[in-house]
Amino acid sequence: YRNLRVALLGAGSVGSQVARLLLEQGDEFASRIGARLDLVGIAVRDVDAPRDADLPRELFTTDATSLILGADIVVELMGGIEPARGYVLEALTSGADVITANKALLATHGPELFETAEQVGAQLYYEAAVAGAIPIIRPLRDSLAGDRVDRILGIVNGTTNFILDRMDVNGETLADALATATARGYAEADPTADIGGYDAAQKAAILASLAFHTTVPLDRVYREGITGITKEQVDAAREAGAVIKLLAICERLTDPETGEEGVSARVYPALIGRDHPLAAVHGAHNAVFVQAAAAGDLMFYGAGAGGVETASAVLGDVVSAARRHVVGGPGVAESTHAGLPVLDVGRVVTRY
Ligand code: HSE
Repeated sequence: YRNLRVALLGAGSVGSQVARLLLEQGDEFASRIGARLDLVGIAVRDVDAPRDADLPRELFTTDATSLILGADIVVELMGGIEPARGYVLEALTSGADVITANKALLATHGPELFETAEQVGAQLYYEAAVAGAIPIIRPLRDSLAGDRVDRILGIVNGTTNFILDRMDVNGETLADALATATARGYAEADPTADIGGYDAAQKAAILASLAFHTTVPLDRVYREGITGITKEQVDAAREAGAVIKLLAICERLTDPETGEEGVSARVYPALIGRDHPLAAVHGAHNAVFVQAAAAGDLMFYGAGAGGVETASAVLGDVVSAARRHVVGGPGVAESTHAGLPVLDVGRVVTRY
């Protein structure tokens, strides 16, 4: 087998599981891909920090740039904008394919990254950036590319779904449920990103951009979190035969006066009837309900957070990138953003 050099940036709850699985399943991957995935190093800020998996110490380095320059495939799981953005750009311009789960980075600098990838003939994969283990990026980008997606209703933040579910089913307080979500590794490093709806808004920007073949900037996504949700509201919803869910809603809109077409992306706690499939999404699970003109209603459901679950989506991207190297040829960059016009976004319509 030929060796493909994989560099990992970050060893948090997802990164350490990706490293573990790459090391443990090397032979399986080699036969599946036709090339050996050689984990050449893991760049971290602190080599001695505790990890979720037992990994060989010699793999760790603080020198991300050297690691990137020697890699065929770079997996960015650091999170945050900088230095992740700089490293992803370095990796792409060096000709490496990049896999990222970094929704904040994609939602704010997506066009720059996709354009760079396109210019150099590299690929940027991000299946793990939205809804953890659930395949939703490829279905929207590939499977539904011949259809017209009209609307997406997504439960795309596991932490807030876990909290709202515990408030509904167990009568817990928001604070207690958040502590459990954090202990289980669902929450972001700063859980304000979860309960404030910021994480879901980043995912909404990514989903709307893909689904509507445009660029939906993060600052045009309307956002409300769940911090103001009380036990009384949760109980009142239940009595009314509904449940409160933090929804990411992306849809095409037509201005009733001008007939002009636009798109809207927004995140807020909304009431859903108990008979809607989204009402059955419990715990930290996510689901993305897609309405397409020809396909009709589709629902994608599964684990939206968690280290090993999200590692599944990352590794799927690693295998895709590796297969491209084996087949050879630069391929077409997976940009759905570059050069396309920004439509009218951010309009808030009547609540669901
Ligand atoms: N904090 C995120 C969540 C992790 O709770 O869904 C996955 O993006």
